[in-house]
Amino acid sequence: MKLGTKIILNIAISIVICTLAAVAISSAKIHAQGRQQLVEKSRAILSRLESIRTYIATQGGLESDINKALTTFPDGDLSPEMRDRILRKVPIFASIKVGFEGAEKDDYKFRVFSDEPRRKENKAILSELEILKRFDADPKLPEIVEETETQVTVYRPVRLSEAQGCLLCHGAPATSPWNNSKDILGFPMENWKDGKLHGVFAVTSSGSLAQRSATSAKEISNLIHESSTKVEQGHTVVRASEASLKEIVATIEQLSNLNKEISTASHEQEMGIGQINQALSGMEKITQNNSASAEECTAASEELNNQSLIMKSVVSQLTKVVSG
Ligand code: HEC
Repeated sequence: MKLGTKIILNIAISIVICTLAAVAISSAKIHAQGRQQLVEKSRAILSRLESIRTYIATQGGLESDINKALTTFPDGDLSPEMRDRILRKVPIFASIKVGFEGAEKDDYKFRVFSDEPRRKENKAILSELEILKRFDADPKLPEIVEETETQVTVYRPVRLSEAQGCLLCHGAPATSPWNNSKDILGFPMENWKDGKLHGVFAVTSSGSLAQRSATSAKEISNLIHESSTKVEQGHTVVRASEASLKEIVATIEQLSNLNKEISTASHEQEMGIGQINQALSGMEKITQNNSASAEECTAASEELNNQSLIMKSVVSQLTKVVSG
């Protein structure tokens, strides 16, 4: 494999790994966010139920209704209307009612449980007893959140409040309106005190599918955007490395050119030396020739000299002859 291909392959693999990591992180985020939303939803429902309890308590009228029932039904056999009227004045009753009624509409599960319930359906199961124990051990513990793969349950303690009239029914049997240790509705009074943990509200949310898929869709589109940005960044990296690869190739080319140049130069140098040698030998020849010609020249000029001397004597003899 070529070095360039290797580098590009490495970069490509890095991009794939980065994208996968981004997908993994984002889906973990989606999951965590989804969980958090479910926790918030459960909390909102519980807070609503607590507000209802406070609201009904501020409305008052429970004691006067109890007194009315006592006088209207002195035998203790309350009409269903009167039972209903009293229960409507019990703060926690409205909370429990709304808790159950909203469950289907708002897609959650509601449960109230106790280790000593009045209603047997509310009897705590083993895991719920653990929750009760934890709230009992720490009166300041505001809530417990339990998460499974698919759902979130938020637990909140339900404590009795004397101020809200809880002890009129759950309090000391000696205070029984019928003087028979039973409350106005005929239930045995438990002799519980103010602040006693009677039960726990549990709201389990698995979230509406529509809500979750909407959030997921949004998250995924963000994710795709993020990934494409990353891929773009990756491209830039590839382009950048392409450029540096080109630079490297260019440098290598330059190097080989340089090499060629050097070898050419040395060849040329060799040739040059040869030429110089040739030139030198040529020059030698020329010099030799020159010296030869010089000798020839000397000889010739000597010859010429002799001949001019001869000519001179010939001319003077001729002049003597002419002038007489
Ligand atoms: C008028 C009497 C009365 C008063 C006052 C009253 N309760 Fe109760 N409570 C009941 C009855 C009756 C039930 C059983 C309801 C049922 O069968 O659904 C009950 C049930 C409950 C439960 C559900 C667990 C169980 O025992 O089955 C809780 C929790 C509770 N009460 C807490 C409170 C709190 C807190 C207050 C004060 C805000 C309060 N109650 C005031 C009569 C009363």
